Amino acid sequence: MQVPTLKCSLISFTFTFLLVLLSLNPASSAAVCNTDDQKSLLEIKYHFNNASTFTTWDPNTDCCTNWSGIQCDAQGRVTMLANSIANDVVGEIPPAMGELPYLQFLAFSNLPQLSGTIPSFLSKLTNLQHLDLSLNNLTGPIPDFLSQLKDLDDIDLSSNSLTGSIPSSLSQLPKLRTINLGTNKLSGPIPPSLGSIKSLVQIYFYSNSLSGSIPSSLSRLHELNELALWDNKLTGTIPASFGSFRNPDISLDLSSNKLSGSIPRSFGKANITQLDISKNKFTGDASFLFSRDKTVLSSIVMSNNLFKFDFSNVDLPLGLKRMDISHNMIFGSLPKQLGQLPLYRFDVSFNQLCGKIPTGRRLKQFDAAKFSNNKCLCGLPLPPCN
Ligand SMILES: *[C@@H]1O[C@H](CO)[C@@H](O)[C@H](O)[C@H]1NC(C)=O
Ligand SMILES: *[C@@H]1O[C@H](CO)[C@@H](O)[C@H](O)[C@H]1NC(C)=O
Ligand SMILES: *[C@@H]1O[C@H](CO)[C@@H](O)[C@H](O)[C@H]1NC(C)=O
Repeated sequence: MQVPTLKCSLISFTFTFLLVLLSLNPASSAAVCNTDDQKSLLEIKYHFNNASTFTTWDPNTDCCTNWSGIQCDAQGRVTMLANSIANDVVGEIPPAMGELPYLQFLAFSNLPQLSGTIPSFLSKLTNLQHLDLSLNNLTGPIPDFLSQLKDLDDIDLSSNSLTGSIPSSLSQLPKLRTINLGTNKLSGPIPPSLGSIKSLVQIYFYSNSLSGSIPSSLSRLHELNELALWDNKLTGTIPASFGSFRNPDISLDLSSNKLSGSIPRSFGKANITQLDISKNKFTGDASFLFSRDKTVLSSIVMSNNLFKFDFSNVDLPLGLKRMDISHNMIFGSLPKQLGQLPLYRFDVSFNQLCGKIPTGRRLKQFDAAKFSNNKCLCGLPLPPCN
């Protein structure tokens, strides 16, 4: 029963002590670096032989106020570590990196000579919200233990040489908003369980060797605004469920995969701002991807597929800025509205189109190559129609 009073006097003692400390050093309101944290940081610096990025990490100055890339909380615990680009950071991530228990923001990136795997001692950083190990030379798998860091909202492991598959356990991260695993050597399927991370806004899995089909569960991500799956080995078609994306501003890049078959008609209902499905093996009709109702559609790229449909009566969205349907088997003529669109990138070459090219200020900026190799398109910039 004595405990509350004791606690109370302890708190007031600590408070007085803090006030004394502050009055001794009125110029600085920031906390003094915790000695354990400072020790860990110096171990990191010495591990990398005092590399240039750590020049300001001087043991005689305060890590919270004087060290670049370091931020602390009010108690002097290190909450942020961010480095600058450096070529002289050579070797693996040292165990001391796992000894910064209050770390929330870790950006140890742009270090082309940082090698080794993503070490398991990073699982001790249970307060981590932001993990950026991009643009290094890390190898090995994406560790399962990331799923234990429940506060993670941003993971960037892009541009390394990571192998293995994407762990489905990542779906246990309830706050994850952005995940970038682009430009690695990842293989295997995209885990359907990712569709249960309600908070996901951006998924970047581009330039890997991912295979299998695109999980239909991803359409359940109502916050999603960017899905970048380009340059993989994905097969199958676009899931029918993709017509039900809720976010009205979504950018979908599925280009350079092995997707095939016809596009499900339901996908035509999706409100997509930017769509790239180029360099696949899609067949059949895709005219329903265009429509005057698609007020948000500003860019559509479907080049290098096997699409075969009549373009004559396609109802073009009036906000279209970029349109590339080149290298398909699209026939019919170019719709008159084309001349009124705010186009700045455009290509209809290598199709089966015919008839007179519509006039219009915006269309005039594109040279003959963008209309070439069709069945019988004519008029400027091509030779006149007979
Ligand atoms: C790095 O700096 C520390 C402290 O100044 C020094 O003791 C150590 O020898 C240095 N290490 C290298 C490899 O220069
Ligand atoms: C450390 O930072 C404080 C606050 O910015 C500054 O007043 C002080 O001169 C710095 N000390 C050294 C040794 O750089
Ligand atoms: C797409 O946008 C239109 C117009 O804002 C809206 O009526 C429609 O419900 C939206 N579709 C979906 C699938 O959210």
